[in-house]
Amino acid sequence: MSAPSLPQLQSVFMPAGEAAARITSLSWVLIIGAALIFTAVMGLLGWAICAQGGRPPRVRLWIAGGGVVFPLVVLAALLAWSMARTPGWMERPPPGALIVGITAHMWWWEVRYRDPASGREITLANELHLPAGRPVRLGLSSPDVIHSFWVPALGGKMDMVPGRISHLMVQVDQPGSWRGQCAEYCGEQHARMALNVVAYTPAGFDAWLAAQALPAAAPSGALVERGRDAFLTQRCNACHTVRGVAEEGRLGPDLTHVGSRLYLGAGTLPNQPGAMARWVAHTQDVKPGARMPSSADMDPATLEALAAYLEHLK
Ligand code: CUA
Repeated sequence: MSAPSLPQLQSVFMPAGEAAARITSLSWVLIIGAALIFTAVMGLLGWAICAQGGRPPRVRLWIAGGGVVFPLVVLAALLAWSMARTPGWMERPPPGALIVGITAHMWWWEVRYRDPASGREITLANELHLPAGRPVRLGLSSPDVIHSFWVPALGGKMDMVPGRISHLMVQVDQPGSWRGQCAEYCGEQHARMALNVVAYTPAGFDAWLAAQALPAAAPSGALVERGRDAFLTQRCNACHTVRGVAEEGRLGPDLTHVGSRLYLGAGTLPNQPGAMARWVAHTQDVKPGARMPSSADMDPATLEALAAYLEHLK
């Protein structure tokens, strides 16, 4: 399992699977078709302006043909073509599909997998990891306001509505990484609600999931050990779970493997050395309105130890 790279691309023109490829081809037909029709209409307008004076021939035919028949034919053809290319509703996922639960929060993503070894549910955050070549059924919901799941490389948008579970089938063809973004305005930090997608080979995915299913790594070294104690004395565990250390916190993201994540704060800060301490101490400067308060008054030694502990949770 190679380390995933930071996803940069978020484009409907770079599909990673069949559902997204259908949307891409539809987009091209719409863009090219609209450009051709716009050019033709502008040409007609130019002709009408140049031929001012005399009444143009067959006015009624132009109005009925161009204003009624032409749009009807074009829109009906587009509707039939796009309906034929829309995947059918599936009551049950296909055999062998991976099931992943995603809950959108203000302003981060909770992502849940079933550990095949223990049957336990594993809760992660802000990253969707997938096996390439295998269908994946996403169950999408929200506990607060309407969000929208949108990873252009995977497929279309799906609103995440409080009180409902929506489903989306996705599949990627090759390993890779892509960026997604909440696509429904959901408050102050809607713009910093990114979801990163990483796809592996099937064996790579199994190895990744097995690693994520493990409880938190035991502290190695005095600094990291002090950091684990700080995690408890600073009451980080009131909101965050670290499996094997404190498992009651449910308000914020599960931090059991936070050190292995690509970003902090749902795509806000690349998870590089120094980012963790900045995030903890200056949360409200980095992501104003985030549910976590800044801890700017934490003494530097405690902050250093806490950040070292969280970075160590790979
Ligand atoms: Cu969540 Cu916009």
